[in-house]
Amino acid sequence: MDCVVRIHIFTHISRSRKGIQIMPWIHTSSPKLKVQIRWLLHCDLPKVLDIERRVFESTWTKEDFLHCLQQRSCIGMVAEYNHHVIGFMIYKLHKAKLHILNFVVDLEFFRKDIATQMIEKLKDKLNQQRRNEICLELREGNLTAQLFFKKMGFKAALVLRNHYNDTNEDAYLMRFILNEKDTLFLPFAPHNRIAEYYDVA
Ligand SMILES: CC(C)(COP(=O)(O)OP(=O)(O)OC[C@H]1O[C@@H](n2cnc3c(N)ncnc32)[C@H](O)[C@@H]1OP(=O)(O)O)[C@@H](O)C(=O)NCCC(=O)NCCS
Repeated sequence: MDCVVRIHIFTHISRSRKGIQIMPWIHTSSPKLKVQIRWLLHCDLPKVLDIERRVFESTWTKEDFLHCLQQRSCIGMVAEYNHHVIGFMIYKLHKAKLHILNFVVDLEFFRKDIATQMIEKLKDKLNQQRRNEICLELREGNLTAQLFFKKMGFKAALVLRNHYNDTNEDAYLMRFILNEKDTLFLPFAPHNRIAEYYDVA
């Protein structure tokens, strides 16, 4: 094995509607796994629900998934390894962006590069579909996901105060912009107006 084995202790904040619960997990980093990413089919739902329940305390029900996926603009994809579903993502198509609504890897496959491959797949779709942004909301307390999305090039763009009905927790709106450097030269690029007033140089 060419991989250095490390032990990561981290916490996960569940999206429970009943209230937030911190679940401490000890996790060992292990070699990367190559997964296949394909459309989510109706027959995948039991496994998807199983993963959702194992990772979050109380979350999307089967009806929530069905309701969402019945909309033409909502897309579901799964990550498969050895013909087993080990992760999934649900996202909504907007004119210029993809909005991730749910994104989960099964517990025992954490830190094996699965989520990285799922995000790479979405980034490929941006190129193909002439969209230039992927966004999602993350709980302020979900440090694991924040670190992951930061590594994937997402930046916190906005704090959404009291975003979650269950706990009133704030959310970070995380955004990945394709070819972000090009947008810096747009005439309407945001700038720091406060700094402008204090610039005495
Ligand atoms: C966030 C999540 C999707 C990451 O999935 P994953 O398959 O373990 O991620 P990867 O293996 O691709 O990780 C890539 C990088 O992200 C960072 N990262 C991922 N998990 C991390 C952790 N627990 N601690 C620190 N960094 C972490 C690391 O930089 C990692 O690279 P490395 O392993 O080479 O150091 C997974 O933890 C998960 O499903 N969490 C619960 C669901 C959730 O919070 N979803 C988001 C809101 S819907």
